[in-house]
Amino acid sequence: MTKPPYRSVLFVCLGNICRSPLAEGVFRSVLAGEGKHLSVEIDSAGTNGYHTGEAPDRRSIHVARNHGIDISDQRCRQLTHRDFTRFDLLVGMDRANMATIATRRPGGGTATIGLFNEFALGDPAEIPDPYYGSDADFERVYRMVLAASKGLSKLF
Ligand code: 4NP
Repeated sequence: MTKPPYRSVLFVCLGNICRSPLAEGVFRSVLAGEGKHLSVEIDSAGTNGYHTGEAPDRRSIHVARNHGIDISDQRCRQLTHRDFTRFDLLVGMDRANMATIATRRPGGGTATIGLFNEFALGDPAEIPDPYYGSDADFERVYRMVLAASKGLSKLF
């Protein structure tokens, strides 16, 4: 288990096309605002590999762009064993993500693993999966991710 100040973080959701790409972009923007982005590695991954190689969902690209953040260059990838030693911190969006991350953790995995809102803000609320939702659900995810990112940045 690594301890703060953290120097790398991997955001993890189910598909790596809706929530975690948004978290990656928003957290990078929050750290940039604090002048800390150059010394921190930030990435995202999905527990499943259904969308590997794809750009983020257009609704995530759209909501990010509405808030001045470009995530369109990101490409989906699946969580790997190596991520458990490569990153200081693995951050899951919901409890299903957390359960899958725990089952994938190899022996010798050093990363600290936390539920995003709980780890960053002490708030047990999950970041809900917006995949089958509306544009308003994506906006809500954005606001939750922004608040959690501001809290998380204090640990970097
Ligand atoms: P995400 O949303 O986990 O926030 O990227 C999803 C994206 C794709 C699927 C489910 C959730 N899917 O089943 O393809």
